[in-house]
Amino acid sequence: MLSKTVCSALNKQMNNEMFSAFLYLNMSAAANEMGFKGVANWFSVQYQEEMVHFMKFYAYINSQGAQAIVDKMAKPASSFPSLMNFFQETLKHEQFITKSINELTELAVNEKDHATQIFLQWFVTEQIEEEENDREIIGKLKLIGDNGYGLLMLDNELGTRVFVPPPTA
Ligand code: FEO
Repeated sequence: MLSKTVCSALNKQMNNEMFSAFLYLNMSAAANEMGFKGVANWFSVQYQEEMVHFMKFYAYINSQGAQAIVDKMAKPASSFPSLMNFFQETLKHEQFITKSINELTELAVNEKDHATQIFLQWFVTEQIEEEENDREIIGKLKLIGDNGYGLLMLDNELGTRVFVPPPTA
C-alpha cells in the first residue's frame, strides 16, 4: 500500500517520464529535419525507453492498489540550434530526472516504504547510464568541432542504436 504522499510523488515522476518521452520525440523530428538521420534514430530509441519508464511507474502504482493518473504536461522544446545543444539539453534534463528520482527515493526511505525503495533502485542505476551516454556524446562532439566528416561518422554511429525492451516491460 502506498501513502498519499508517496503515491502523489510517484504519479508526478510518471508524468516526468512522459514529458521526457515527448521531449526526445521532438528532438528526433528536429534532428531528422536537419538531415541527421542517425541522431534522429538515437532520440527515437530514447523516446521508446522513456515510454518504458513511464509504463513501469504506471504499472507499479496500479499494482499497489492506487491509481496512476496521466496529467497535463509542459510543452517540450522543439527547436535546437546545434547538435551540441541537443545533447547539452538532454544531459541537463537527465540531471533533473536523476535529482527527482533521488528525492523520491529519499521520501520512500523516510516513509519506510521498502517496496517503493526496491522499485526505484532500477531507476537509480538507469540514471547513471543515461547521464554517462550523454556525456560521452558531448565529449565526442567537442573533439569533432565543426569537422563535417566527423559529424557524419558520429551520425552513422548514433544510427546503429537499437531499442531493446527490458524483460519486465
Ligand atoms: Fe526516464 Fe531518461 O529518464
